[in-house]
Amino acid sequence: MESTFSSPNPVLFGVGTSKQTGEKLKEFGCKKVLVVYDKGIKASGIADKIIAIINEAGIGTVSFDSVLADPPDWSVEEAGALGVRENVDGVVGVGGGSSLDTAKAAKLLLTNPPPIHQYFGREGVVTKPSKPLIVIPTTAGTGSETTPGGVITDTKQNIKTNIAGTGCSVNLGIVDPELTLGLPPSITASTGMDALCHAIESYTSLRANSFSELTGRKAIMLVGKYLVRAYENGSDLEAREGMMLASTLGGISMSGPLCHLAHDIGKVLGAKFHIPHGNGCASCLPQVLAVIAPAVPEKVRYIAECFGMRIPEGASNEEIGKAAYDVIRDVMKKINLPNLKAFNVKLDELLEVVPEGVQMQQDGLVKLFGQGTSPVKATKELVAEIITRAYHEN
Ligand SMILES: [Fe+2]
Repeated sequence: MESTFSSPNPVLFGVGTSKQTGEKLKEFGCKKVLVVYDKGIKASGIADKIIAIINEAGIGTVSFDSVLADPPDWSVEEAGALGVRENVDGVVGVGGGSSLDTAKAAKLLLTNPPPIHQYFGREGVVTKPSKPLIVIPTTAGTGSETTPGGVITDTKQNIKTNIAGTGCSVNLGIVDPELTLGLPPSITASTGMDALCHAIESYTSLRANSFSELTGRKAIMLVGKYLVRAYENGSDLEAREGMMLASTLGGISMSGPLCHLAHDIGKVLGAKFHIPHGNGCASCLPQVLAVIAPAVPEKVRYIAECFGMRIPEGASNEEIGKAAYDVIRDVMKKINLPNLKAFNVKLDELLEVVPEGVQMQQDGLVKLFGQGTSPVKATKELVAEIITRAYHEN
C-alpha cells in the first residue's frame, strides 16, 4: 500500500517546556508578540505566567484576551487587527483549540489583509510565509499544535470552515503537560474524548496509511490507559503527560487521513447548536464504532482491547462492534460525559440538520480526494439512525 507522511509542525514536548517560550521566540528574532488566549486561561493564571516568561526574555507583549469558543470570523479579525496596530513580529497562542485557531488566523492576518473570508477553504490557502507563531496547548485534546490549519466559524453561512497553508502554520508547538494540571474534570473529559475521536477516526479512516496507523494506535492505547486516571485525579502528572502525548499523536495521525462520522456529526452540532466540540464529537462515538465494525473489524477490536475489553477469537463483526460500543459507553459514564439530551436540543431538530450536514461533508471529501473518509457509506438514513440511538441510549 502506498503511504505518505508529513508532519509540518516542529513540537517541543515535555514537562516544564513552556519555560522555554521566551528563548524560543528570541531564536525566531521576535521583539514584540501578540499573545492570544481566553478569559479562562487568564483566570487560571497560565496566561500571566507565559507572558512573564516572554517578558523575562526581553520580548514585549500585547494581549488579545477575548478568544471565543468556535472562533467567529469577526473575532479573529479583531485579533489580527490588534497585531497589525501594535506592529508585532510574532504570535503566541495559549489555550484550547479556539485560542490556537484564533492565533493561527491572527498570524495569517498580520501579513494578509482582511476579511478572513477570502482565505477560507481550499481556494483560500495562503502559501506565502508569515511571521512566527508558537502555540502552547493547555488542554489534551485538540492536537492543534500538529495540524496545518485552523477552524473558524463563518458567521455569514453559520458553518465551521478552515484556513490552511504556511500563512497560518505553526512554527513551534510547545506541549507542556504541566499546564493541564489545573484543568477541571469536565474539560479533561471532553477534550480527552476529542483526542480519542481524532485517533480512532483517523485510524479507521478510508485514507489511513501505515504511518498514521502507527501514531493513531499509540494515541488510542494512551487514552485507554490514562483518560479515566486524569479525570479522577487531575494532579496525576503521569496521566496528564500520557493524555498530552495522546493529543499530540492524535493530531499527527489525523493530518492525512482526516476524521469521519463522529467529527462530521460533532461539527454540525457545534455550528448549529453550539455543543462544545469534544462533547459533540464524542456524543455518537459508541454508535459509530458499532456501525463501522463490519467494515474494519480488526481495528475496532484493537480499540476495544485498548480499553480493557477482551474479545474472543472468532467473534463476529457485530459482536466486536457491540464490545467496542459497550466499553466506550462505559468510559464515557466513568468520566460523566453529558449525553445529547443534556444540551436541550430536541431529536427532531437534530434529525433536520445533522444527517444532511454529515453527507455534505463526506460528499465534499469525495470531490476533493476522490473518496470520503468514512469506512461505511455515510447515507442520511445511517446518520439519522446513529443520532437517534445516541439520543436515546447514552
Ligand atoms: Fe476534534
